[in-house]
Amino acid sequence: MVFEASAPSNIALIKYMGKSPLGGNRPANPSLSLTLNHLRSFVTIEAIDATTDVWEPLSGFPELKLSEGGRKKFLSHFYQLKRHWNLGGHHRVRSANDFPPDCGLASSASSFAALTLATYEMAKSLNPNLKCPPVELSSLSRQGSGSSCRSFFSPWAEWGDEGAEAWDLDLQLAHAVVVVDDRKKSVSSSEAHQKISSSLLWQGRPERAKSRLEDLKKSLATSDWRSSYEICWAEFWDMHALFETSRPAFGYMSKGTLEVLDKCRQIWLHENDGPLVTMDAGANVHLLLREEQISQAASWLAGWNYLKSWN
Ligand code: PMV
Repeated sequence: MVFEASAPSNIALIKYMGKSPLGGNRPANPSLSLTLNHLRSFVTIEAIDATTDVWEPLSGFPELKLSEGGRKKFLSHFYQLKRHWNLGGHHRVRSANDFPPDCGLASSASSFAALTLATYEMAKSLNPNLKCPPVELSSLSRQGSGSSCRSFFSPWAEWGDEGAEAWDLDLQLAHAVVVVDDRKKSVSSSEAHQKISSSLLWQGRPERAKSRLEDLKKSLATSDWRSSYEICWAEFWDMHALFETSRPAFGYMSKGTLEVLDKCRQIWLHENDGPLVTMDAGANVHLLLREEQISQAASWLAGWNYLKSWN
């Protein structure tokens, strides 16, 4: 029997960067994200006669290459889930994404969420009375990869001290990500969470993120698009400034990134309107658009390689 599940990625507008000393991937500050249903991970699980669990790339998608460390982290989360649901035996876990991994498109969020959901499918087949609401699945998934806990809610998710939940806002936004570099990033987000505490800017960061979160929720809820843009812009620069002021410094932006950011700034300057702009821990630039901006997007994005949520 093969159990399968898929889960979406998500892009944070207020970032999870830095962990709480409480452990279990609890965040140092609350975050807010938009779920990206067009960027997904897929996982299948089947029992095998073996002495360990194994991971393989899932065929039918661009071939996923996981490093030794990446495999270990994925299978260790699987092991914890099996313990949680009392599932015995060994398994072959296959996974893939329909978008490039490890380059700032949040593939760890979608792949850990999909693994949690596929393991839940297996647990339910053995115990048909098992019922885990999304909040509980999200909390289990968080222990494998923090940001994955937000992928259980759509379109908006807020993740604070009490775990992740849906943020109830009736606003659908279109998404495009300009892929300036799809190579694997050299510093993983797990490493980034550790390194940033060496930055002098770390002091006050959880408070800044918290206050931006409240401001952003207000501006999105009142359709104050310009303020939303300004808050998102300040927030991703804050995270990237933490990277660049860590000791030793590290960073993700490239020449291509800066060109895209400059173009976005020019659009806002000349049109007094434009996309919300944000970045993950990677070189690629995410844009969020109101429905009525989609027709302009082709000219904004002309000449770039991008993935988009609309047809
Ligand atoms: O879930 P992790 O440990 O891969 O952390 C990812 C954190 C960022 O993607 C950089 C920001 C965020 O909030 O998603």
